[in-house]
Amino acid sequence: MTDTQTDPPPGALTPVVDAEFAVPFPDRTAYADAVATVRAAAATYHNGSDLLMDDAAYDALLARVEATETARPDWAVADSPSGAVAAGVAAHGDVEHSEPMLGLDNVFGEEQLRRWANRLEKLLGHAVAAFVVEPKIDGLAIAAWYVDGRLVRVATRGDGRAGEDVTGQARRAVGLPGQLARPVTIEVRGEVFMTDADFAVANEMRTGYGEPPFAHPRSAAAGTLRAEGRAYDAPLSFIAYGVRGAVTGPTGETSHSTEMTALADLGVRTTAATSSVGLTVCLTLDEVLAAVEALGAARGVIGFGVDGAVVKIDGSRDRELAGSSSRAPRWGVAYKFPADTRTTRLLGIEVQIGRTGVVTPVAVLEPVQISGVTVTSATLHNFDDLTRRDVRVGDVVFVRRAGDVIPEITGAKLDERDPTSAPYEPPGDCPRCGGELDRTQKRWRCLRGRACGAHEALAYFATRDAMDIEGLGDKIVQMLVGVGMVTDPADLYDLEPAALLTLDRMGSVSAAKLVASIQASRQRPLSRVLIGLGVRMTGRALSRRIARHFGSMRALLDASIEDLQRVEGIGPDRAATIAADLVELTPVIDKLVARDVNMVEPGAASPDEAGPAAPGPGAALLRRPDGAPMRVVVTGAVPGLNRNEGNEAVERLGGSASSSVSARTDLVVVGEGAGSKADKAAALGVRVMPAARFAALIAAHDAGDADTAAEIMAGS
Ligand code: IVH
Repeated sequence: MTDTQTDPPPGALTPVVDAEFAVPFPDRTAYADAVATVRAAAATYHNGSDLLMDDAAYDALLARVEATETARPDWAVADSPSGAVAAGVAAHGDVEHSEPMLGLDNVFGEEQLRRWANRLEKLLGHAVAAFVVEPKIDGLAIAAWYVDGRLVRVATRGDGRAGEDVTGQARRAVGLPGQLARPVTIEVRGEVFMTDADFAVANEMRTGYGEPPFAHPRSAAAGTLRAEGRAYDAPLSFIAYGVRGAVTGPTGETSHSTEMTALADLGVRTTAATSSVGLTVCLTLDEVLAAVEALGAARGVIGFGVDGAVVKIDGSRDRELAGSSSRAPRWGVAYKFPADTRTTRLLGIEVQIGRTGVVTPVAVLEPVQISGVTVTSATLHNFDDLTRRDVRVGDVVFVRRAGDVIPEITGAKLDERDPTSAPYEPPGDCPRCGGELDRTQKRWRCLRGRACGAHEALAYFATRDAMDIEGLGDKIVQMLVGVGMVTDPADLYDLEPAALLTLDRMGSVSAAKLVASIQASRQRPLSRVLIGLGVRMTGRALSRRIARHFGSMRALLDASIEDLQRVEGIGPDRAATIAADLVELTPVIDKLVARDVNMVEPGAASPDEAGPAAPGPGAALLRRPDGAPMRVVVTGAVPGLNRNEGNEAVERLGGSASSSVSARTDLVVVGEGAGSKADKAAALGVRVMPAARFAALIAAHDAGDADTAAEIMAGS
C-alpha cells in the first residue's frame, strides 16, 4: 500500500476541499449546531445505523463547516469533524492499524476534479502519467491481514487508528478468501458490503423473525459484520482497493493497477472484478471523466451500492511523492455521485397482499428521480415499523434506492410536517378478504395465508422461471381466482377447456392451448415446483440446490432441520423457516402429487437412494478432473435461454454457476452482448466457449447424446 502518511513536500498545496464552494455560517451558534449535526450524522453513518440525513445534505453541511473554519479560525472547535480521521466516532476497538485508515476528499463535478488534478500535478512538478478510476463502494472499510497466505485477522476502520476485531464474521465475506493462492504475508484493505440481492434476503429473514429490517445495505453489512454468533445467512461481499506488502515481486516502481491484478491472482476480489466499470487505467483527464461518467451511468445495474468514483494516481512513485495529509491521501479523490437518498412527498399508503398472505404497507410517492430511475412507490416494510417511524400521509419523506432493491422510505422530515396531519391508522382486518390478521409477528399475515394471496401465488407459480405455463398471465389468473375456479396451484390441473370457455374473451382454441400448457408443466423438474411454490426464504438458486440435494419431494419433506442445513446457504434460522413452510405447504403438495405433477429432480439422487444427491450420468459434463463442479460464468445471451435458465443449464450439466470471472473460473460462456467478463476471461487465460456451442452442448445433453456432448466439451 502506498498511502503512507507523509508530510507534504515543499510547496505542497492543501488538498481540495469543497469549503471553497460553500457559504460560511453567519454566527458561532449556527456553526456549533452544524458541527453537532455533522457529528451525529457521521456516527450513524459509520455505525451503519439509519441515516440522519442524505449524503448530499451531509456533504453540503460539512463543506459549510469547513468554509466557516477557514473564514473564522477562531470559532473552530478543537475536534471538529472537518479534520477528524473519522468524524464523531470514538475509538472503541482493540486492533491497532499498521497505519491510519484515512478518508478521501470529495469533488462533485468536472471543474472540481480538474482543479484537483492541476494542483496535484503542480505539487508533483510533472504530469501524472496514468490515473485509475474505480467504483467507490458504499460499505465498511476493513483491514485484513494474511500471514503465509492465511487470513489471520480482520478489523474495521474504527476511529482510523484502531478498529474492532471482526475476523469471525468477515471470514464469511465472498471475495476475501481464507487462504491465498501463494503463502505471502500482506495486509489487504477494502470494503465489506452487501449486494442488493443479499440485502433483500437479509431483510426477509429479519422481518420473518420479527426484527426490524435493516435500513439499507450498508447497515445490513455493518449489522452482519458485528453479529457475532448470530446465524444471519445473508452473505457479505468484499472488494479490495489497496494492498501493503509484496504482491508484485521485487520492489521498485509499481502501480496500483498491477498490484490489484496481482492481488486478484492470489484469489482476492478487487475492484477490477466488479464489471465493465471495474478498474480503468486512464492516460488523460478526459479519459478519467469518461470513465467516471460510464460508472455513473452503470451505477443502477452494478448490483451493489456505489456512491461515487475514486480517482487515483496509478504509479507508486508519484503516490509516495504526493503523500497524505492527516485525514486523506493527496494521490486520490472521491468523485461523489448525486445522493441516492432523496426526499419527496408521501401521497398515500396502500396495503399490499403477498403470495403467502403477508400484508405490507406500500408508499405512494410524488414521482422522484433516484439514480436515474423514476420512483413512484416504495416499501414501508411493516406496520410496526411504520408506526414506530410515525410516517404520515402528506409528509416529506426520505426515499432510498440501491440498485435493484425496492425503494424504501427511511423516515420523515419532521420539521416540514403539516401540524394538522394525523398519525396513520393500520388496518384492523385483512383489507382484501376482511378476515382476521395475525399480528403476532412484525410482518402481519392474513390468517387465510396463501389462500388470501392466491392471485399472487398463482401468477408466480406460472412464471417462466417457475412452472413456465404459457398463456397463464395475470389477467386470466385474476379471473380464475375471482370466479372461484382456482384457489391454489393444484386446482389449475383440474381445469378443462369447457369450463374455461365461460371466462371473458376466452375462445375454444386458447382454452385448449392453455389447458395443454398447464398439463405439460406437470413434467417440470422438482426445482421448478419449489420455485413455483415460493417456499419462504428460498430463491431460485437455493430452490435448485435443495432439489439437487434431496432429489425428490418425499426426501425433502422427510428432512429434519439439521438435514436442511446440509444444503449450502442454509443456516439454522433459514432451515427452521423452510421446514415450517413446507409443513404449511403439505396439503397443496399432496394435491399436486395426486394430479401427477413431477416431484423428482432429474440428475439428482434417485428418490429411493438415501443421503445427498450424487451427480447423475448426464451431469458429469461440467466437472473438473477431480470430480468437483466446474465454476462456470455465463455472460451475454445464450440463444433461447434467459439468465436463470442459463445458470440452471450449467447446474444441470454438473457445473456451478457463478457471476464473476476470476482466476478460479473454469469456463466462461460468451454470448452476444458480453461485456468485460469476456475480456477478463481472455486476460486470465480462462477457457471460453461461444454461446452457440454451449446451446449445442445443452441440446446434446438433454437428448442423452453423450458422444456429441463429449465432443463439444473436448473441442472448445
Ligand atoms: S481508496 C486512504 N478506493 O471510501 C483511503 N476507498 O470516503 C483510501 N472506498 O475509507 C481509500 N471504495 O472505505 C478507496 N475504490 C475505493 C473505495 C474506497 C470505497 C471507501 C473507503 C474509504 C472511504 C473514503
